[in-house]
Amino acid sequence: MRALIIGCGYVGVSLGAELVRQGHAVFGVRRLAEGDLKAVGIEPLVADITRPEDLAKLPGPFDWVVNCVSSSKGGVAEYRQVYWQGTRNLIEWLSAAPPRKFVYTSSTSVYGQTDGSSVKETSPTEPASETGRVLAETEQLLIQAAQTQGFPAVILRVAGIYGPGRGHLFQQYLKGEAKIPGDGQRIINMIHRDDLVATIIAALKNGRPGEIYNAVDDEPIAQIHFFRWLSETLGKDMPPFVEADSTERKRGLTNKKVQNRKLKMELGGQFKYPNFRKGYTAEIQRLADNS
Ligand SMILES: NC(=O)c1ccc[n+]([C@@H]2O[C@H](COP(=O)([O-])OP(=O)(O)OC[C@H]3O[C@@H](n4cnc5c(N)ncnc54)[C@H](OP(=O)(O)O)[C@@H]3O)[C@@H](O)[C@H]2O)c1
Repeated sequence: MRALIIGCGYVGVSLGAELVRQGHAVFGVRRLAEGDLKAVGIEPLVADITRPEDLAKLPGPFDWVVNCVSSSKGGVAEYRQVYWQGTRNLIEWLSAAPPRKFVYTSSTSVYGQTDGSSVKETSPTEPASETGRVLAETEQLLIQAAQTQGFPAVILRVAGIYGPGRGHLFQQYLKGEAKIPGDGQRIINMIHRDDLVATIIAALKNGRPGEIYNAVDDEPIAQIHFFRWLSETLGKDMPPFVEADSTERKRGLTNKKVQNRKLKMELGGQFKYPNFRKGYTAEIQRLADNS
């Protein structure tokens, strides 16, 4: 297949490298030139998805397209530009030569639940944060395009990504900067980068257009259990408890258990790291080997 990965960052580069390994021709887009792409066999392309004129120059057609662009910095306006407008530009550009499948990495932040309940793909998506709302609206663009134009979009709602060199709470813990708000019962949902890469490839092959799948591991976990495991495994102190922030909801901090049953049933495959303990055991070992 000719595969185009738009947003060759943490996930995109690993995805591209795996697709190259599986024998596909892989092209990778980002705004800044080359970097590490050629080293893993990805053909680098420079484009900004907020600029339709850049997209028009890309060497299509492509069989598979993955949009895993991220607006890591910037406020809501940039979020809207990169996710909503960028996705709109992609749908329009690809309508001339549609791919066989288009995968978009949305986020579990579209679920605004704060009561610790279980959520699945049909649960309400009413995020309190404006950025969460932009992502929910971006999903709607794709669902509409799938329903009205037959655009082959598959949406993955991705949980917090961790893996080599990544994982916000883990990095904070290692630096001694982690804190546990309230009683630590807030649930966090995660997925290891390697399992996300496998999930994206499964979605490219078998995802049903117009469908949404939660991309999350098997075990939502309360923050306190996460830190307790780290503390016992590394023989270090627990982080201090701090008062829960009354602005948590406004900041979009949610509390929910994201379920992956649909993903498991329809896209199959076993996770290499079904829970954070497996994933972080590997990461701790990697760090020990490197030091
Ligand atoms: N990190 C998480 O925990 C998490 C959770 C849920 C969902 N997600 C989603 O998962 C996906 C992958 O995340 P990631 O951590 O791999 O992101 P990342 O490391 O920040 O990479 C994002 C890539 O997008 C490129 N990019 C940004 N703006 C662009 C634009 N306008 N046009 C073209 N390329 C652009 C960046 O390169 P340049 O800056 O050079 O353009 C970079 O290569 C994203 O869609 C993200 O929203 C992430």
